[in-house]
Parts: sequence; structure tokens; C-alpha cells
Amino acid sequence: MAIDIKALKEAVQSAYAQHHAAPGGENASYIPYLANVPSTLSGVAAVTVDGDIVAAGDSDFQFAIESISKVCTLALALEDVGPDAVQDKIGADPTGLPFNSVMALELHEGKPLSPLVNAGAMATVSLVKASSVEDRWSRILGMQSQLAGAQLALSDDVNHSEQTTNFHNRAIAWLLSSAGSMYCDPMEACDVYTRQCSTLLTTVQLATMGATLAGKGRNPLSKLQVMKPAHTRYVLAEMTMEGMYGRSGDWAYTVGLPAKSGVGGGILTIVPGLMGIAAFSPPLDPTGNSVRGQLMAAAVAQTMGYNLYAA
Ligand code: DON
Repeated sequence: MAIDIKALKEAVQSAYAQHHAAPGGENASYIPYLANVPSTLSGVAAVTVDGDIVAAGDSDFQFAIESISKVCTLALALEDVGPDAVQDKIGADPTGLPFNSVMALELHEGKPLSPLVNAGAMATVSLVKASSVEDRWSRILGMQSQLAGAQLALSDDVNHSEQTTNFHNRAIAWLLSSAGSMYCDPMEACDVYTRQCSTLLTTVQLATMGATLAGKGRNPLSKLQVMKPAHTRYVLAEMTMEGMYGRSGDWAYTVGLPAKSGVGGGILTIVPGLMGIAAFSPPLDPTGNSVRGQLMAAAVAQTMGYNLYAA
């Protein structure tokens, strides 16, 4: 399907104009760095599988990727161990509980169910093939960068803020280990997971990640094939099931596209075959999804008439 770029520009500008200052939500407070990012920041962007870029607002502001990094590590684990092992060892179902729930693990005999909750994300980090901690980290950062089409980097400030407060995640890593669901040293998995959440990127770079996943793993800017074309469907299915946590079903019902949120305020939604749509604004709803990000990304998709279930 050809994309009307003029219509896309209007959709992005109008989504920004309507929702960039929408009220409601609060910055994540449990990670000190995130609490201090200016709440008024707001941006939205779309990048197509042909490499067209359309953006509005603070779309060049660098924010912390946080949980959206889970999508990139899932892509890498799929390359390393394949879709069957990911489904068997991690899962492909929603937990129905918050993203850092211990209860979810207890209810399922230590199987995380999804690579997009904290437990499943740390187990996914542990599935990545690596010869050392630094090798594990550099392969994950490499996948993030290849998906974004830009060399991304760790923010020492975000990482320090998270590494000194991530006690809940450390506990989850040990629980996974005791249940036999952790495939490297649990503190190594937690350390690398915490680093992967601490890289910075812009809304345009996030939308480029989406475009790569929308285009069967070919980055439209670098033209590199960054993952097997047959694997993107598994990433998109996992995003549909758990990408928006307790709002994943509502998002499927109202927007009808795979999506992933991060507590840094980023939202990524994917129109398979066509584009990535990304939005950013720090205030979050109670499930940890950006309030304005959801409104802006959903508005672009709705104006353009994109909804998998309405096709
Ligand atoms: O591990 C954490 O809690 C954070 N580094 C990331 C959580 C997150 O982004 C959940 N997303 N909405």
C-alpha cells in the first residue's frame, strides 16, 4: 500500500497540536532520573519502511528507552535461540499484572510468560549468547543501534540512577534463578537489563526502530537487514499481548496495532508493512504508559486509518 506522505504529515502535526499538552499522569518517580525530566516535553514522529521521516514537537529530545529496550533484546534472542525456545522458556501471553509483578511469577511456577515484563526481559537477556558481561551488553546495544539506524549510547546518569535503586528487579532475577528460568548469572542478567533500559534515543530514532520491525527487519535508513525477516512477526505478537501492560487489551481494542511503552515516556506503535509511529512525553498513567504518547500515537494511526483488525 502506498503511503500518502502529505496526509501523514498532517496527521502527525494534528496529533501533536491536539494532544501535546494533554493533562494527566505523572513522571515515573521510582527511578530518580526520570522524576526530573521536564514533564512538558512532548514529541511525535513516523518513519516509513521507505525511509520517509515526519516529526513534530520535541522529537529530537533524547529520553531513556526503558522498557522499549525489551523489544530489541527479544529480537536478538530470537536470532540466537529461535522462536520455539523463546516461547518455551519465556512465553507469549499477557500476565494480567503490573510489569514488575512478583505475583505473576509465583502464579506460573516461575515462567515469566512474556519477554516484555521485567522478569521475562531479564530471562531474555540471559538467553542472549555471550562470552562475558561486556559481550552480552555490547551485543544488546548493537541490536538497539541497528534497529534505530544510529549508534545509541548508555546514559551514565540514567544507569547510575537505576543500578542504585533496582532492588526489586534483583529480587525478581533471583526468583527466576531459583525457578530454573534464568540462563546466565542472575545478577549479570539484572545488570545488563538495567543498562539496556538506560540508553537514550530520540522519538525519530524510536520510530525508525518501529519502521525496521514494520519492514521485516530491514532498517529503512541504513538499509541493513538487522534480523531474520521471519522473526518480526514474533516480536509484533509479543507486543500485542503485553506491550502496553495492563492496557494491552484496551490498546488492541481501540488502536489495533502492536505497541510498546517505556517509563521514560516513550511509546512505539507499528503498522506492519508500512511504518513505525513513536511518541514521547514523560507523564505516565497508572500502568506506566505515557498519557500524551498514547494519545498522539493513537491519533496518527486513527487519522491514517491504520488498524490491523479493521483491515
Ligand atoms: O526495570 C524497570 O522497572 C525500568 N527500568 C523499566 C520499566 C518500564 O519501562 C516499564 N514500562 N512502561
